[in-house]
Amino acid sequence: MDEENKLSRKTVLKAALAAGVAAPVALIGGPALARTSAAGGAAPELTPACHDDDDPTIAQTEGPYFKPNSPERTSLVTPGTPGTRLTVTGYVFGRACLPIGRALLDFWQADVNGAYDNTGYTFRGHQYTNAQGAFTLSTIVPGLYPGRTRHIHVKVQAPGRPVLTTQLYFPGEPRNNTDTIFDARLLMTVRDNGSAKEAAFDFVLDVPQTPTSTRPTSTSTSTPPGGTSWAVGTAYAAGTRVTYGGRGYVCLQPHTAQPGWEPPAVPALWRAE
Ligand SMILES: [Fe+2]
Repeated sequence: MDEENKLSRKTVLKAALAAGVAAPVALIGGPALARTSAAGGAAPELTPACHDDDDPTIAQTEGPYFKPNSPERTSLVTPGTPGTRLTVTGYVFGRACLPIGRALLDFWQADVNGAYDNTGYTFRGHQYTNAQGAFTLSTIVPGLYPGRTRHIHVKVQAPGRPVLTTQLYFPGEPRNNTDTIFDARLLMTVRDNGSAKEAAFDFVLDVPQTPTSTRPTSTSTSTPPGGTSWAVGTAYAAGTRVTYGGRGYVCLQPHTAQPGWEPPAVPALWRAE
C-alpha cells in the first residue's frame, strides 16, 4: 500500500477541517469527527497522524513529581481554581490505529504558579478512555517553573499492557527551544475558545492490533469492485467502497450512515476515488 492510500488521520483531519465538518460525536463514535468538532475554526497545527505503521508515542522522563494513587476524575479544577481553563481531548490508539477503550490515563501537572502539590493531589487525576478510546481532561494551563518549558505529565496504559510515561507540550512556547526534554512529537494542538484553551493529542501505544478484528462483518473484502450504492442506515467499515452520485468513495472510518452524511458532504468519513 503506498503513501497515498494509507488511512492517515492527518489527511482525514485536514479534509474535515477544510470542510468545516462538526458532526455530533455520539452519533458517530468516530475519532476524526470528534477531533474536528474540537478543532474547528482556524486551522490549527495538527497532532501526529495515526496510520498502521505509525511509531508509538514516545516516552519521556517521569520527573520528580509523580505520585501514585491519584484520584479518579476527569476534572482537576474547581470553580475557584486560578488559571486559564484548558480542556485536553484525544484518543488512545494501538498500532493499527484502532481506538483502545478502558485505557488508563494518569495526569499530573503544575499549578498556575508552576508548583506541584507534593502533599496532596491537586492537579493530579486518572481516568479511563471510553469505548471509543476517547478521553477529556479539564484543567488549567500549567504554570512555568525553572528549567522547563510548559508541559503536562501523563502515564498511559492499555489494559494489561506496559505503562507509557510521557509529557505533552504547547505550541509557540519560547522555552520549547531551550528545554532539552521538549520533543515536538509531543506537541498538542491548542486553540483559543474565548478566554479558555482547547488542546488535543492522540496517543499511539505499542499495542498489537488486528486491523479487522473490531470491524463489522460487512467489510470491504466482500464488496464487489466499485462498491454498492451508499445508503442511510448502513454500518460501513473503514475501507468499504461505495458509489454515490455515479462516483466511487472509500470509507475512512467506521460509522453508520445518516441523512446528511452523503459521501461528498463528509470528507472525514469518505474519500473520493
Ligand atoms: Fe514537570
